[in-house]
Amino acid sequence: MIGILEKEAGEKLLFLNTCGASLVLQITGSGYVFMPYWGGRIECTDIRYVIADITRGSYLADANGQKDFKLEQMPQIYPSHGYSDLREPAFAFVYEDGSRITDLRYRSHWIHRDKEKLPGLPSVRPADDSEVLELVLYDDVKQVEVTLTFTVYESHDAITQSVRVENKSGEKIRIEKLCSASVDLLNCEYDLLHLAGAWAREFQIKRRRLEQGMQSLGSTRGAGGHGQNPFAALISPETDEDHGNVYAMNFVYSGNFLAGAEVDMHQNTRFQMGIHPFDFAWTLLPGERFQAPEAVMVYSGQGLGRMSRIFHKLYRDCLIPARFARRERPVLLNSWEANYFDFHKEGLVSLAGEAARVGAELFVLDDGWFGKRNDTTSSVGDWAPNEEKLGGTLPELIRDIEDKGIAFGLWFEPEMVSPDSDLYRAHPEWVMQVQGRRLEMSRDEYVLDLSNPEVCDYIIESIGRILGSCHIVYVKWDMNRNFTNMGSGYLSADRQKEQAHRYMLGLYRVMETLTDRFPDVLFESCAGGGGRCDPGMLYYMPQVWISDDTDAMERLRMQYGSSLIYPSLVMGCHISEVPNHQTGRQESLRTRTAVASWGNLGLELNLNRIDEEEKRNIAEEVAFYKKIRPTVQFGTLYRLKGLQSGNEYAWMHVSEDGRQVAVTYVRPLASPNTVSRRLKLTGLCPDAGYRAEEDGRVYCGRELMNVGLSPGKIRTDAYSRQWVFERVEESR
Ligand code: DGJ
Repeated sequence: MIGILEKEAGEKLLFLNTCGASLVLQITGSGYVFMPYWGGRIECTDIRYVIADITRGSYLADANGQKDFKLEQMPQIYPSHGYSDLREPAFAFVYEDGSRITDLRYRSHWIHRDKEKLPGLPSVRPADDSEVLELVLYDDVKQVEVTLTFTVYESHDAITQSVRVENKSGEKIRIEKLCSASVDLLNCEYDLLHLAGAWAREFQIKRRRLEQGMQSLGSTRGAGGHGQNPFAALISPETDEDHGNVYAMNFVYSGNFLAGAEVDMHQNTRFQMGIHPFDFAWTLLPGERFQAPEAVMVYSGQGLGRMSRIFHKLYRDCLIPARFARRERPVLLNSWEANYFDFHKEGLVSLAGEAARVGAELFVLDDGWFGKRNDTTSSVGDWAPNEEKLGGTLPELIRDIEDKGIAFGLWFEPEMVSPDSDLYRAHPEWVMQVQGRRLEMSRDEYVLDLSNPEVCDYIIESIGRILGSCHIVYVKWDMNRNFTNMGSGYLSADRQKEQAHRYMLGLYRVMETLTDRFPDVLFESCAGGGGRCDPGMLYYMPQVWISDDTDAMERLRMQYGSSLIYPSLVMGCHISEVPNHQTGRQESLRTRTAVASWGNLGLELNLNRIDEEEKRNIAEEVAFYKKIRPTVQFGTLYRLKGLQSGNEYAWMHVSEDGRQVAVTYVRPLASPNTVSRRLKLTGLCPDAGYRAEEDGRVYCGRELMNVGLSPGKIRTDAYSRQWVFERVEESR
């Protein structure tokens, strides 16, 4: 709920209150907007003392003609550059006269319930109880208006923020930086937590103590990339799964981003999220508007576990397409590790048939089905089926596969082009490039310049043609390289720095059009694994392939990391072959299933090569997963072990109605003469009884949460154990 306290001389306090948190804005008589508080929920009460109590240094420049009024010591909500705040500003504008000073002051505000989709950008949809505050700030000298839009998700316990700039002057304005969110915390005792990594090692949790100065993470690769997810959290030093103060931001954007935490000389922290200012600029003509993407802001006073559950529920209810929020994800078999590029019709139909026999519901034909593609060196961009390789037309193949009792999905990589392709031969000018400069390939591809609307139209037309002509229920949308050779033949010289953002706007238009036109197709986003996993993508594509590394032990850390933000419902997790194709490890089928059952189970196996007994075991594992699928996909996740220790992981899902509980324990390395600690559950009803499926024993919730379960005798590496409980009314 948004509350207002009007005070004397035009002063106001605006309370953005969720069920568990408050973010308070203070509008002063002179129009500055301060942020005296963000933290656990408080009532709407006069807390102007927070600002009044701040001790002012006398060595800073005066502001506003008042000696004791130093902007640098004030917690602000959208700080400018040019006066007495010498920290990192939230934005940077350059005016036609070369000046760079902007002095934003409060002009008006508007509270309403009609959250609109951001023009051209993904954003979190409104909830039944969400409310919007639009706070209009204005610079009188340059007539520029900046509107901060906050949406308060009361029961979801989250706030989102986006920013819009409108040029109300008669001159051009050049935007060189525009954060989507900027908050000042009156403290610096925090660790910075974020998710870093590389290809096949995505979502590694990194944690480091903040020090005076700027610490940041970001990406200039054209996507968040495998290296950094657009997520950062400032957490109090004692924070673990259940304790500690957490201030988290996640960016609803899939391109270059920067998240920064600046600890100033007064031990305060400025925390920002936005489009990366490197290689970004935007020219705003008189009368034009620029809309920055949305950032999601979550406060948890109960550690990372609560933070994650807030993100999970918000993203399931209000971010992913509503039609997929309640739809169970199919168990799929993906052909990539089974065949790579080497397949023919009989093999595919047989593989699909075997997949159906073990219980898979969807067969996904990965790379290699189009043009003359038999390796990475050709055909990306030519989205015409290779009928020779497919042994006929695509609809015929799909019909034969469907006859085996399984649905069909297809892989695309729409944003790239092979130099050896008809598309490139016809339109060499469509790739990102600078004339006269060496054009660099990566995975034998160039990047199409999606800042050019014609290129986007081609993608819509060529992908739409295939989706419209066959029964395809799932698309794996891949993107296998980052941006180099930034340069657009379409944009004028003075707009070249708009390219990366215009690319994203183009991509979002493509996705919006295709997902609207084919609403029943389940799109999975992939970028060589988890190279572009962010809320922006989830808005269109409610499933993500989080890594090309399918080794169960490697996956533990990555799934743990991705689950900090992204719900189990969106996470594709596959059982793959042993020895594993990335690591050479051999883990039991049981452990591979246990790990993959954290999210949406899939198979990445060549069942044509596997013997009958193993296939029976696989079928049993798939059947086991289907029993807990609704709990995993729509339930509540509690992580039990894994944040500190690298050698024990445990997590549990409690179904929406609380009636089923699925618990998993995994220990990567056995070690002799060690006592394994009991595993204490959480999130249960203390007085209810829970019947263990394996032996029928009924435990009391209190017992499971305090005494816990024994992981058993561990005599092997990659050890796992899973339990399923049904809630029964009576406890023992
Ligand atoms: C990278 C993806 O992450 C893989 O799963 C697979 O689809 C390949 N691309 C295909 O080229």
